[in-house]
Amino acid sequence: KIYKIAAIPGDGIGVDITEAAVQALDKLAETNGTFSFEYTTFDWSSSAYLERGWYMPPDWAEQLRKHDAIYFGAVGWPSVPDHISLWQMILPIRQQMNQYVNVRPTRILRGTRAPVSQLQEKPSDLDWIIVRENSEGEYAGQGGTTHGHGPNAIATELAIFTRVGIERIMRFAFETAKSRPRKKLTMVTKSNAQRHGMVLWDTVFNDVAKDYEGVVEHDKMLVDAMTVRMVNKPESMDTIVATNLHADILSDLAAALAGSIGIAPSSNLDPTRENPSMFEPIHGSAPDIAGQGIANPVGAFWSAAEMVRWLGKGDLDGVADQFMEAIENVMGDPKTRTRDMGGSASTTEVTKAVCEEIGRV
Ligand code: NAI
Ligand code: MG
Repeated sequence: KIYKIAAIPGDGIGVDITEAAVQALDKLAETNGTFSFEYTTFDWSSSAYLERGWYMPPDWAEQLRKHDAIYFGAVGWPSVPDHISLWQMILPIRQQMNQYVNVRPTRILRGTRAPVSQLQEKPSDLDWIIVRENSEGEYAGQGGTTHGHGPNAIATELAIFTRVGIERIMRFAFETAKSRPRKKLTMVTKSNAQRHGMVLWDTVFNDVAKDYEGVVEHDKMLVDAMTVRMVNKPESMDTIVATNLHADILSDLAAALAGSIGIAPSSNLDPTRENPSMFEPIHGSAPDIAGQGIANPVGAFWSAAEMVRWLGKGDLDGVADQFMEAIENVMGDPKTRTRDMGGSASTTEVTKAVCEEIGRV
């Protein structure tokens, strides 16, 4: 079986970590022998935008739909305002490919230690899946500005919540929670201060919860209190569901608590499978370390492992687990960790170690 992958390395360290992911994926395929990957690489990036004035060509959606999955590095560079790069690439892809779920697992990798809380000594202390609503809410792109940015400027930023959009993410989150050993779901809102959309979230959550009574344990948190609970009682949570904005913020915090933003993966899923889903580490292009060869490729590997799991529809779970096993074995040795995890290894050294380990596990 050959899987067709659309690879979009993008900007900065997105390029390095995509290359690392491709090497590991090829090694995995070679070791396994029953499948392989065929890549189309798209040069859609901020540097290309500066040269030709566009990120993606008019037929981008059609081109992407020719693939089984999309592997994405990162987009954004200081010479282009970030709202332009995000709105010309990543957000249109997520929205038009109907990738309404963004799954963001975080846990302390075996053999490593979380940097912040003394409580977090065992991997089981922090093992979460954050389910992010990925198609509407605060990132619906609605709003406007009057009087430019002058002294009388007025800007609106409208969040849009639909019953359909909320219900499908709730069902996905409950199913995710149900599939995990602890069967616990925490829902996050700010429904005390935001009294329309967030209250609709509460209502739909209560409605969907009725279908999981006695099966999935569930509770609600306000997003501000949630940040405190994540730091102080990480072991008290398992699956978390939150809006586009809240989950974006909470997943960066989660990654930092677990070790580094450089390890965390994300899957942008179209659960109907009518469009290709997209896999990317949660971090950005990291201009502060770009070009130095020191980016942590672990988030990219983990995203690639999730891509394999998704493509296999259950048949490649063992292969994805083998990939994760190799990553964790390598992370267990401080000599093969990058700087953000307290080591001094380069991106290529970690990649080489993971590829070798894939051959062994
Ligand atoms: P960032 O995630 O790129 O970097 C934040 C900090 O984490 C930096 O100090 C960086 O060096 C470090 N870091 C990130 N990934 C790392 C890795 N793999 N290994 C080691 N250290 C790592 O976020 P920032 O600086 O806010 O954004 C930079 C650019 O990336 C902006 O243009 C932003 O819009 C864009 N961005 C793009 C995303 C995407 O493509 N999905 C997501 C987040 C940001
Ligand atoms: Mg983010």
